[in-house]
Amino acid sequence: MTNFGEILLILIGTSLALLNACNDNLVNPTFVKDTSAVCLAGNPAAYYYSKGFGEGINNWIVYLREGGWCMNITDCKDYITRKGVDTNPKPVALRNLLSNQKEINPDFFNWNRVDVRYCDASSFTGNSEIIKNDTKLYFRGAKIFNAVIQELLDNGMGSAENALLAGSSAGGVATAIYCDKFRRHFSNTSRVKCLSDAGYFFLSKKHDQENTFLSMFDGLIKLHGSKNALPTSCTSRLSAEMCFFPQNLQADIQTPIFFLMSGFDKIQIQYTMVSTEFDVCAIWRNCSLDQIKIMQELRGELLSVLPDHHNSKKGILITSQYAHTQALSPSWNSQAAGTGETIEKLFRDWYFDIKTVHVIDDNQCPYNNCLLN
Ligand SMILES: *[C@@H]1O[C@H](CO)[C@@H](O)[C@H](O)[C@H]1NC(C)=O
Ligand SMILES: *[C@@H]1O[C@H](CO)[C@@H](O)[C@H](O)[C@H]1NC(C)=O
Ligand SMILES: *[C@@H]1O[C@H](CO)[C@@H](O)[C@H](O)[C@H]1NC(C)=O
Ligand SMILES: *[C@@H]1O[C@H](CO)[C@@H](O)[C@H](O)[C@H]1NC(C)=O
Repeated sequence: MTNFGEILLILIGTSLALLNACNDNLVNPTFVKDTSAVCLAGNPAAYYYSKGFGEGINNWIVYLREGGWCMNITDCKDYITRKGVDTNPKPVALRNLLSNQKEINPDFFNWNRVDVRYCDASSFTGNSEIIKNDTKLYFRGAKIFNAVIQELLDNGMGSAENALLAGSSAGGVATAIYCDKFRRHFSNTSRVKCLSDAGYFFLSKKHDQENTFLSMFDGLIKLHGSKNALPTSCTSRLSAEMCFFPQNLQADIQTPIFFLMSGFDKIQIQYTMVSTEFDVCAIWRNCSLDQIKIMQELRGELLSVLPDHHNSKKGILITSQYAHTQALSPSWNSQAAGTGETIEKLFRDWYFDIKTVHVIDDNQCPYNNCLLN
């Protein structure tokens, strides 16, 4: 039930967002120099770089954007127009984890902040030849990742005191894949960690009749030629498409990594159930008991494939709000899982070795009071 208080909160939230938007510094794209590192349609890859300042001058965040995947030629052609990845990148505002405002982003605001455009649809893993037909498609995700990292190293990133590889959704999957490779570019005196936001997709045993994630990842292997980008510690024991699931990568990741995920992740639910019905009922807060039960079963499966909680190198934060991606949204600065702390605060405490974080929201509903219906 929406009441007056909630509407008022929404209004306040909207005006804060508008205020925030007015204060944002727009950052222009930098095009990747390596001419083989191109987007799906062959146009140059790009990233947004905002230089560090003050005490943050030797600290770096590299953030990998979200944006799903494409798995076959028709799907990839459609992806190009649907997502506009062939268009010229526009200036963007860096928000929340990437914001340059101290009030919003007290611990990272003055770092070198890099927002990598996602235009390859392979979680930055593709590396295959051009396929010729009426149009050419380029599968160069891995080349884009490597070229961006190389340019940042050329700009001094290698001597970072603190560094963070972060990413959301498809970029969160990429973060799990590349975390240890990223670490190798720094000396052992640098603090280097990773943040995978909304990327802990898993293969549901109970509900995955359609195998959507698996056929998508299989398409990445076959079409994008992604196998070589995946950690050999995984591909040596499992088939390559299985190595896109962080549940199969996490045990071998040596670098400290933080997994932030909703127990009711919108994309996990949509892909698994091949339906958007849960979106509708979660927005209206009127899901049926059957719908709630399915979502709770998926949450249970997620909890069962998380890293071992005795491993202090792994940060875990599982929220319960029906959501997808939180690092660049206002949710980053809102209260996490009934802890009384913001996600930002929990994450920074983990990042700076102040405390271990293994927090799971015990609310078993994707919104408040879902069992009342
Ligand atoms: C191509 O991918 C789309 C989207 O995932 C899917 O719906 C379609 O069935 C696929 N086509 C083929 C020929 O595999
Ligand atoms: C290649 O182009 C031809 C002619 O436009 C079309 O019929 C065919 O489906 C295309 N093949 C693929 C794999 O897109
Ligand atoms: C860090 O690297 C240096 C030089 O390679 C090495 O001498 C030192 O033992 C290393 N320190 C740690 C803590 O691994
Ligand atoms: C949920 O609420 C929306 C908006 O009032 C309504 O359109 C929809 O039919 C409701 N669904 C159910 C299952 O009651």
